[in-house]
Amino acid sequence: MKINLSKKILFFFSLISIIPVIGYAKTVLPAANGIKYPVGLKNWRLISSSYRNDNNTQRVILGNSTAIKASRSGQTNPWPKGTILAKLVWKNTEHPQWNAAIVPGEFVHSEIMVKDAVKYNATGGWGFARWKGAEQQPYGKDESFAQECFSCHTHAKDSGYVFTMPPKIP
Ligand code: HEC
Repeated sequence: MKINLSKKILFFFSLISIIPVIGYAKTVLPAANGIKYPVGLKNWRLISSSYRNDNNTQRVILGNSTAIKASRSGQTNPWPKGTILAKLVWKNTEHPQWNAAIVPGEFVHSEIMVKDAVKYNATGGWGFARWKGAEQQPYGKDESFAQECFSCHTHAKDSGYVFTMPPKIP
């Protein structure tokens, strides 16, 4: 069977256009309470970092533009409506070329807190969501998982249920 040149060219370009779809179109499912993984989260700016020596992990806390504005101007108690705080967690690992440097290793989970005092009244004005592992599987069988998040975050009641205290950036 003879395929003419224009058909071959068409086929070639349709292949090229499909490659990015295969490579990048990984859909992250919403959490059980309907909260979606925010678009562009990976490009959000830094608010703080933290380190846990009980489970050997390190974290960065990022914010959407509302959160960054509040954080940089010290207007964080309460955090304004529309704030989204995100936390990305990795296992600690030694840098292969400098063992004293502890750097991010295996990815553990990402999680967010969305501020809306009315909508999320039952959980301190925050909507909680978490996605596990490199596959970013939604955490929690049903929406009651947010109670688990909220009950531990009540330790930070005086700072609006948020643990992170944005450090000064001189
Ligand atoms: C056992 C206690 C505990 C539980 C349960 C918990 N957290 Fe936290 N969370 C913390 C602590 C402590 C911090 C601050 C230290 C750090 O960054 O890890 C924190 C920080 C965060 C932050 C960064 C903002 C902040 O408050 O500092 C987010 C976002 C977050 N948690 C989301 C969640 C979500 C979503 C869940 C439930 C799926 C959850 N957390 C469950 C203890 C908890």
